[in-house]
Amino acid sequence: MKVKLGTFPLVYPIPIVLAGAMVAGKPNYATLGDCGVMGIKPPLVYVSLNETHYTTQGILEHSTYSVNFPTTEMLAVTDYCGIVSGRDIDKAMLFESFYGELETAPMIAQCPVNLECRVVKEFTIQHRHIFIGEVVQAYVEATYLIEKEGQRGIADMTQLDPIIYALDNRYYRIGEAIGMGYQEGKIFKHTM
Ligand SMILES: Cc1cc2nc3c(=O)[nH]c(=O)nc-3n(C[C@H](O)[C@H](O)[C@H](O)COP(=O)(O)O)c2cc1C
Repeated sequence: MKVKLGTFPLVYPIPIVLAGAMVAGKPNYATLGDCGVMGIKPPLVYVSLNETHYTTQGILEHSTYSVNFPTTEMLAVTDYCGIVSGRDIDKAMLFESFYGELETAPMIAQCPVNLECRVVKEFTIQHRHIFIGEVVQAYVEATYLIEKEGQRGIADMTQLDPIIYALDNRYYRIGEAIGMGYQEGKIFKHTM
């Protein structure tokens, strides 16, 4: 039996990211759950931010932002970035920032993976700014690179150890790999 829960965007699980932007000449970072892939080719990633956030100001100013994936070891600092505003606290002090070709999308050196994004579309829905960004470069910490069948790849999710969130307000750690995309379903092809 299905029970109605109400108008709740109960998508799960949610990867937690730190969105980076240059605000008033300084890097600033905000914790986001509202981030996701919009396409592989072209490589599109969206972020959805409240209009009042300091980070929003920076993305609007430069039309650039970064998406940084913290590890579970960074849980406390990541949560902190979601509690305090760059208006009151210098969050750049918490991390080592680096820059790519866009120069106005600060990225966090301590995060194993960083996406440098240029805004290609922006719109508002009520109090939210939704930015769709084209990934101009994806960075991975060298220690998380693997070589497989002569191809350079990225370590599996258990090693990247991302912070997972759910709308029960809890943080989680990722479990183990259980199969391969575009492969597991083939069993049906053989039996049907
Ligand atoms: C787990 C978590 C997830 C969050 N997700 C979002 C989000 O998706 N969008 C958003 O606008 N704010 C989100 N926030 C709130 C902002 O991170 C928070 O308001 C932050 O202080 C904004 O910082 P800023 O003013 O320096 O930009 C989240 C906070 C937490 C703790």
